Amino acid sequence: MIGAMRDVIVAANWKMNTTPADAAELARTIVSRTREAGVIRVICPPYVCLAAVGEAVADEDPPVAVGAQNVHHELAGAYTGEISAPMLASLATWVIIGHSERRRDAGETDELIGRKLGRAVGAGLRPILCVGEQLADREAGRATDVVDEQLAGALEDHEPTALADAGLVIAYEPVWAIGTGRNARGSDASEMADAIRSTLEHHGWGSRTAGVPVLYGGSVTSANIDEFFSEPAIDGALVGGASLKPDEMAGIVARAGMTARARGAAR
Ligand code: PGA
Repeated sequence: MIGAMRDVIVAANWKMNTTPADAAELARTIVSRTREAGVIRVICPPYVCLAAVGEAVADEDPPVAVGAQNVHHELAGAYTGEISAPMLASLATWVIIGHSERRRDAGETDELIGRKLGRAVGAGLRPILCVGEQLADREAGRATDVVDEQLAGALEDHEPTALADAGLVIAYEPVWAIGTGRNARGSDASEMADAIRSTLEHHGWGSRTAGVPVLYGGSVTSANIDEFFSEPAIDGALVGGASLKPDEMAGIVARAGMTARARGAAR
């Protein structure tokens, strides 16, 4: 599959922001301003806002997907305060896994993230697996090695077919770019997307590799999104801070629409 065939995706990671009432309102405003054919829009609000956002966007055309920001690695049991994949299945169709804030704050390891991936896929959720290096890794020239290790650790117990069929998406989010206002360069993101696809090939993904969407995340705004969509290896964005601002989302998704149209014309 060539790049032109891959999905174009803009995913909003609202993190720990909004109440159910504001989330529904914000979702309605954003979706009404981001209707672009060929762009998959995904809104990932806090767990407690999933139902409200789902209802708010239910009649949207093109449709809007709702995603969770995390999922537990077990199906059920004595895990106070946690949420499992089967619980999410009627509220969301996507899930973010392995976000760097969870690696940092909840000590998530690649092995645990791999288990979460399995649970997500088992419940029919489309996973966005986040990977990315720290600043010190990049400065030491180890960025691709770190991302390679994260991917290998998360993917090692999974059959490529199962994850490819689930529509696995990989988000490259350099940790030093998240919430800092300091975005990576488009060329760095593109090089990393190529490295990610090489890692997948190395792990037996074969021709499925070319169909895996790779998103960039880290201080994406309407002002810098062009830099990422200008790179054919990048298929979209995972947007944090700017995803809470309707004007920003309108600009970002409009630029995504240009890529979707160009890819459609190339088919
Ligand atoms: P940011 O967050 O856009 O605020 O940098 C991105 C993310 O954490 O997914």
